[in-house]
Amino acid sequence: MNRRKLVVGNWKMNGTRVGNVDLLGALREAGPYVAEVAVCAPFPYLADVALSLQGADVAWGAQDCSAHESGAYTGEVSAPMLAEYGCRYVIVGHSERRAYHAESDQLVADKAKVALAHKLTPIVCVGETLAEREAGQTDAVVKRQMSAVIHTLGHCISQVVVAYEPVWAIGTGKTATPEQAQAVHALLRAQLKAASEKAGEMKILYGGSVKPDNAATLFAQADIDGGLIGGASLKAADFIAICRAGA
Ligand code: 13P
Repeated sequence: MNRRKLVVGNWKMNGTRVGNVDLLGALREAGPYVAEVAVCAPFPYLADVALSLQGADVAWGAQDCSAHESGAYTGEVSAPMLAEYGCRYVIVGHSERRAYHAESDQLVADKAKVALAHKLTPIVCVGETLAEREAGQTDAVVKRQMSAVIHTLGHCISQVVVAYEPVWAIGTGKTATPEQAQAVHALLRAQLKAASEKAGEMKILYGGSVKPDNAATLFAQADIDGGLIGGASLKAADFIAICRAGA
């Protein structure tokens, strides 16, 4: 199966309006790309990002959305709002949301469902903590997280992008080895195959300390279809190099 690679920058809570112009200008200039490229920016920047990337070979998205369509949910941002700003993607279930905002597997699944209903592609994140890995629970944890989304979306599961992000590799400089990552990706692919005949076409990204010097080896693994990039997506040269590693 020849899946086009996807490289997504997750800016997290970083950026400034002025700095973003430079970063996005550099990404636009470096295109077109062989891989599909996107950036997921903080909510207040989405209007600027949409303007900067109009007509560029780079898509954009957000880092979270509400599980509700509209209503009395102070501080939340809905999927229809993101669609209005031209978002193609929305990250749901990032480990930072699961850990700091107590997001449950079911809430993450509900967010993915509302995103799909508004024609956004959810990037569903799964991944184990260091304690879980050391206790031999990696497979059980990622399968449990994935299973909530499969159960909620049914056959629509084939429309999501999955990101495997081992929590111990995020922002730590400790990347999973290509073999460790591939093993979990293969497990997720098998689980998705049991749920959808289109699972062979689905993209499963790796995230966690992806850098220009390790991207190509990770992306060369059979079931790794690109990356979800944190820190290195804030530096134009590094992010562009990683996007090109997805060729
Ligand atoms: P780092 O690339 O900074 O480790 O972050 C990975 C991540 O959490 C992307 O969503």
